[in-house]
Amino acid sequence: MTHVPVLYNEVLDGLNLRPGGLYIDGTVGAGGHAAGILERTGPDGRLIGFDRDLAALATANERLAVFGDRVRLIHVPYTALAEHVAAGSARGMVLDLGLSSLQMDDPERGFAFRHDGPLDMRFDPSEGLTAAEVVNTWPVDELADALYEYGEERLSRRIARAIVEARPVQTTAQLAEVIARATGKYRERIHPATRTFQALRIVVNDELGQVAEVLPLAVQALASGGRLAVITFHSLEDRIVKRFFRQAAGMVGEDANVSSPTLRIVNKKVIEPTAAEIETNPRSRSAKLRLIERL
Ligand SMILES: C[S@@+](CC[C@H](N)C(=O)[O-])C[C@H]1O[C@@H](n2cnc3c(N)ncnc32)[C@H](O)[C@@H]1O
Repeated sequence: MTHVPVLYNEVLDGLNLRPGGLYIDGTVGAGGHAAGILERTGPDGRLIGFDRDLAALATANERLAVFGDRVRLIHVPYTALAEHVAAGSARGMVLDLGLSSLQMDDPERGFAFRHDGPLDMRFDPSEGLTAAEVVNTWPVDELADALYEYGEERLSRRIARAIVEARPVQTTAQLAEVIARATGKYRERIHPATRTFQALRIVVNDELGQVAEVLPLAVQALASGGRLAVITFHSLEDRIVKRFFRQAAGMVGEDANVSSPTLRIVNKKVIEPTAAEIETNPRSRSAKLRLIERL
């Protein structure tokens, strides 16, 4: 299955694209948003794309080959942005957080409980902690805290105890089964393993730390009039983006007085997918888009 870019037109319109200039895609993935940016900034707009996942970059490389040397793809986390992009140089930047369908649908990557595969979950499979290491080595209390904090899982303690008792847990299907047994199957609308899988993915990739770190760097990279578009897929991430944007725009409370802000929030109300988009691309269901502009 291919990856369908979420809130595609909303991102491209929101970035206020025009021909020429430098754009950044911090999460280039399969290159969907990047292709749109390159089309709308032709004939000479340039794009630098980052991704932690080499397999994603290979897909993006193929997809974006038609744009020739207008594109540069770099295999580093988006938090390495400042090493590759001069301050004040970008007309726009997009961050489409979370994981792509390519990653979700590949059992070998270990993101999905619906396919059986090794418990990996790393965006960059060449480095760092795997989900299996977390699940099999963390003390029960630390595991429970992570499930509660990053998965907002109310049954975190019960699940953590069940995992520790079932060790070693090596595959996604095994983990999903342990959780389902511990919590009582089909009790809820969503699969009982959903929150635990989200929590593990966040821990393994330090997702919240990465988002908090990149936002000021992204703003620094923007030229005057440049815009940053951020799509989040769960409330923990959205909260970080929303708070940062408000602070950066000089709004401490809801509508505090702003003396000389350097940034402006573009959309007062968060942008969400239409019912039609959710129907054709269910993965977009929880997406939220926020935009900020450098003055
Ligand atoms: C939702 S996908 C992006 C899809 C893309 N917008 C498209 O239209 O094809 C998110 C991508 O961000 C990458 N990613 C996640 N965290 C990252 C980080 N800290 N640095 C760089 N890339 C990251 C993932 O590997 C994944 O490929």
